[in-house]
Amino acid sequence: MNVLVVGSGGREHALAWKLAQSSQVRRTFVAPGNAGTAEDAENIPLQVSDTAAVVKFIKQEQIGLTVIGPEAPLVAGLVDALREEQLAVFGPSQSAAQLEGSKVFCKQVLHSADVPTADYRVFDDPESATRHILDRYPQADESVPLVVKADGLAAGKGVVVCGTRDEALNAIDRIARAREFGAAGDRLVIEERLDGEEVSVLAVTDGRTLVTLPPAQDHKPAYDGDRGPNTGGMGAYSPPPRVDSDLLSQIEEQILVPTIHHMKRSRKPFQGVLYAGLMVTHQGPKVLEFNVRFGDPECQPLLMRLQSDLLDLLLATAEGRLDSIAAPKWDKRPAVCVVMASEGYPGNYEKGKTIRGLREAAEVDDVKVFHAGTALSSTDQVVTNGGRVLGITALGNTISAAKLQAYTAVKCIRWNGAWCRKDISDRSRITTTNRSVS
Ligand code: AMP
Ligand code: GLY
Repeated sequence: MNVLVVGSGGREHALAWKLAQSSQVRRTFVAPGNAGTAEDAENIPLQVSDTAAVVKFIKQEQIGLTVIGPEAPLVAGLVDALREEQLAVFGPSQSAAQLEGSKVFCKQVLHSADVPTADYRVFDDPESATRHILDRYPQADESVPLVVKADGLAAGKGVVVCGTRDEALNAIDRIARAREFGAAGDRLVIEERLDGEEVSVLAVTDGRTLVTLPPAQDHKPAYDGDRGPNTGGMGAYSPPPRVDSDLLSQIEEQILVPTIHHMKRSRKPFQGVLYAGLMVTHQGPKVLEFNVRFGDPECQPLLMRLQSDLLDLLLATAEGRLDSIAAPKWDKRPAVCVVMASEGYPGNYEKGKTIRGLREAAEVDDVKVFHAGTALSSTDQVVTNGGRVLGITALGNTISAAKLQAYTAVKCIRWNGAWCRKDISDRSRITTTNRSVS
């Protein structure tokens, strides 16, 4: 069969690369894709927001499965449009995608399903949010352990983790008064700040049956030691040793299963991959957020470890028969993904820098270089085309071995202004556990 992956990041490169390995897949298309997907699959210059064009292409090329990578087309309802045409698609409907599209909706689901999460309040205007902060924290110099969030999609930037009252008031100003994230700031969620270890647990589900994937850990802050501004993710590895099988079962039973059941009961069945961003606190795991798609870069180390046919898993999900397939098999070896970024990211950066050393990096054993923000120049050179440029991903017998292998490949690659974090996966060595086993 022919398959189509929608998107152009590292996640989509990993999805296309893995789907293309399936013996059942004849042609793998990526719309619009990047320089890496052009090598492992076929790029199609489709406007993803042009639903009619996407449907036309799917019919014309007899695509048997469409996999939607990023959240924006999911929240915009691309899946609903394809299902109306009886086309097989992996991803949640527009109404189920609200789990990511609206933080208020997500909190309401968590509350109704009795899933552990941070205490929160919703505000429809900046005045009442400001008043709430001033009433609750009358002293200007008090510590204010709160998180201020824009309700809607803000490319991962609409969340401000605060320590002081000024930071909280300033976050309200930026989101709800200056409207830095546009309509996403129509409503605000203010919630308690949770402390602990952050992990990502993803589960593929057809709305009834759930297949939990191995856990992963992202590295959101830009700089080593988890300092600096938040990014889309500067690297990830799987599995974080702290998420043992007991904790994973607890996450399934207390978080994933009740959420999927609640969505089904409220007639918004969730089909696709549910990504739980979790804080493992002293009181156990709590939900920070849900995403309705594979994490980027978590997807890259996860798919490096997947030994089974990805098409089987995604097609069974799309066709609502996940209970009929064997559980996916995973490489026992850990995988580490190091993101190489453009100078200036997550702020402003230039594009169009020639990338060298890709071939040498690809020759390092057990390494795959996934492209994210790359493009082919008019002379067919691979050039930078985004903030996060590459995700160098490696398998190893231990996390340290995988890390060493990934950084060996990183050293082969250069362009003007290239940088990366040097400590991806090092949190795996912190041995204290925050979890209370109740
Ligand atoms: P979100 O988009 O909601 O996941 O938030 C982005 C990042 O902000 C998360 O990955 C966490 O690092 C942080 N964050 C969000 N909510 C909280 C919270 N309640 N307590 C502490 N950190 C949080
Ligand atoms: N790595 C975080 C995300 O995909 O949202």
